[in-house]
Amino acid sequence: MPHTMVIFGASGDLTSRKLIPALYNLFRRKRLPPETKIIGVSRTPFAHEEWRKELAVSTEKFEKKSFTSELWNQFSQSIFYQPADITNPGDFPGLAAALDQIEGNKRCERIYYLSTMPQLYAEAIQQLGLAGMADDSNGSRRVVIEKPFGTDLQSARSLNESIHKVFREDQIYRIDHYLGKETVQNLLVLRFGNSIFEPLWNRNFIDHVQITVAEEVAVGRRAGYYDKSTVLRDMFQNHLLQLMMVTAMESPVRFNANMVRDEKVKVLQAVRPMRGGDFANDGFRGQYEGYRQEEDVPDGSETETFAALKFHIDNWRWKGVPFFLRSGKAMSCRTTQIVIQFREPPHMLFGERGTYKPSANRLVIQIQPAEGIQLHFQTKIPDAEMKMRLSQLDFRFDQGGSELPDAYERLLQDAIQGDASLFARSDEVELAWQIMDPVLAAWRSPAAPPLYIYPQGGWGPVECSQWMNSQGKEWFDVCPVIH
Ligand code: BG6
Repeated sequence: MPHTMVIFGASGDLTSRKLIPALYNLFRRKRLPPETKIIGVSRTPFAHEEWRKELAVSTEKFEKKSFTSELWNQFSQSIFYQPADITNPGDFPGLAAALDQIEGNKRCERIYYLSTMPQLYAEAIQQLGLAGMADDSNGSRRVVIEKPFGTDLQSARSLNESIHKVFREDQIYRIDHYLGKETVQNLLVLRFGNSIFEPLWNRNFIDHVQITVAEEVAVGRRAGYYDKSTVLRDMFQNHLLQLMMVTAMESPVRFNANMVRDEKVKVLQAVRPMRGGDFANDGFRGQYEGYRQEEDVPDGSETETFAALKFHIDNWRWKGVPFFLRSGKAMSCRTTQIVIQFREPPHMLFGERGTYKPSANRLVIQIQPAEGIQLHFQTKIPDAEMKMRLSQLDFRFDQGGSELPDAYERLLQDAIQGDASLFARSDEVELAWQIMDPVLAAWRSPAAPPLYIYPQGGWGPVECSQWMNSQGKEWFDVCPVIH
């Protein structure tokens, strides 16, 4: 059946930077269903051809490697534009008629992609409902919703309620682009497609887990949004908790959207709520030097651009295994990695005691920039009695030269095919807020732990390393291990 992707917020940055390039690549790789149409909607008046021309320029810029004018000309014939203002209910009947016309009044599967300002999500959905555009008797109707999904538990709940008045949960696709990253999905395969890792993946063998999302970039021109959001809303509530869920979840019975998400939700349900002294003892706040001088940052802003949190997952698998999550801007490099730190061997046979402290085994799952896995283990130094050294076994995900799609490409394809496994469900999003809300509140209260200023280009506040060392652990402060 033909498909239509209707993008609200068509003149926005995400559309030109991510969505259209992803759709172009899907077309190039022959992954778009035949007769797929893409219709941009926003307030700015554009003719179809004008919008196509603008998108040609931006797509060429963001997709340098794969862009060819010939292919673009073919692809762009399926791109259309319809001006409409979400806040003006009178625009929706016209929009509905325009969509029907572009679709040739045929039965179509339609996906509405909300890439507008988040304040407009509820309104857009209500209007789609009122205009009869959510009615799926003439082909399925789905809605994809960009992050942020709410700014706290209450707003997320009320957004869910508004959406559920119009769309059923199985029609709703809440994006977290981290779930579209190949290595995140590969983590599921690593864990549940092999028999050698899973027996070790628990409190008997693992000492702790570190999940780091380090960004080299500073806040740049996004401070207007970021200063209120802070690293907790911007990265923890969504991306970091998602990575934690995928690392810690049990194997679903089958790989389908609900079963996968049931298991992820159970991880969040098992997270021990922070209370009292935990907000200071199990959390760490930082701000990079110079943040307050960035454009649009209010004087004396206390916004965290770096945070580290220690979570406990109270279930049989993870009891006693802390999960350390950290993320920051203006760090030494861009790397996202999950470090599974195994326990030390119970009895050390080799090496002169006290002269060489072997590091325990470690599995580094590098999500980006390059995607791969590195296993750290001890080997004997050749020709040197029984002395040991740390050796590594590397796996590069793109070996064999296969092209790794951008996260949006994968997620758009799944939304088109109606597979919601890699999208967040309503309970998942609400539970994530339930975990983050108390931290957000405590860190804005007089009981907040100190905000440490850290130099740009490092690994965050040095005090954060000391905090880790005081627990007998060490951050894995290593820039990409796989290149
Ligand atoms: C976004 C955040 O969700 O993720 C940004 O709003 C952040 O602040 C970005 O830079 C990181 O995404 P990626 O894919 O570059 O790691």
